[in-house]
Amino acid sequence: MKVILCENYDEMSAKAANIFAAQLTLKPDSILGLATGSTPVGMYKKLIEKNEAGEIDFSAVRTFNLDEYYPIKRDNSQSYFTFMNENLFSHVNIDINNTCIPNGEAEDAEKECKEYEKMLAEAGGVDLQVLGIGQNGHIGFNEPDEKLESYTHVTGLTESTINANARFFDSVNDVPTKGITMGMASIMSAKKIVILASGESKKDAVKALLDDKITTSVPATLLKTHPDVILICDKEAYAL
Ligand code: PGA
Repeated sequence: MKVILCENYDEMSAKAANIFAAQLTLKPDSILGLATGSTPVGMYKKLIEKNEAGEIDFSAVRTFNLDEYYPIKRDNSQSYFTFMNENLFSHVNIDINNTCIPNGEAEDAEKECKEYEKMLAEAGGVDLQVLGIGQNGHIGFNEPDEKLESYTHVTGLTESTINANARFFDSVNDVPTKGITMGMASIMSAKKIVILASGESKKDAVKALLDDKITTSVPATLLKTHPDVILICDKEAYAL
């Protein structure tokens, strides 16, 4: 794993945006794997600026998001569907028909998972995937467990994740307790992965990412088996 250590969140976001910009320069019809949460917001802002400046073009890009709450209405202010529109899609020249997010409104969640995985495969797989990391080491909604799922699936959220995400909702009781997420194999099939970590609350997860152990109790540690992963983190996240 390559590590890029940054002074702060802004530098982390700029470095990550530069990697995405380079990807789009090299392959304008890239398949991008996208993430939600507070961490990638700065990177998305910088991509919007680059798009406005004419430096990068999203017109041929296709995207797949890692996860979505389940069940949730798309127009809920906290759905990842809303998040992506507000933080990226509505600000760049992407064709919204080329963006895929698991459907939190699907009546048959299992069917939705199978279809999502099939769409990913038919698209030929993700070229460049951005990931955040949970305080508990989750990626997407692949939460610490004895066994991890390989492919897109419905999952329960851990208390740690529900509490961490409560800041976005009126109360902790409003946080959905389930999600649809790409599985570990779906994520690991990306050709290149950029994982972002910022702030003191991520220091334990980053420490686990950088020792030589792999454990399903910190799902992100499986990334150590991937041949092309870049961790971009700030000093606080790197503290341990
Ligand atoms: P955060 O979430 O970026 O809001 O910290 C990261 C994650 O849960 O993957």
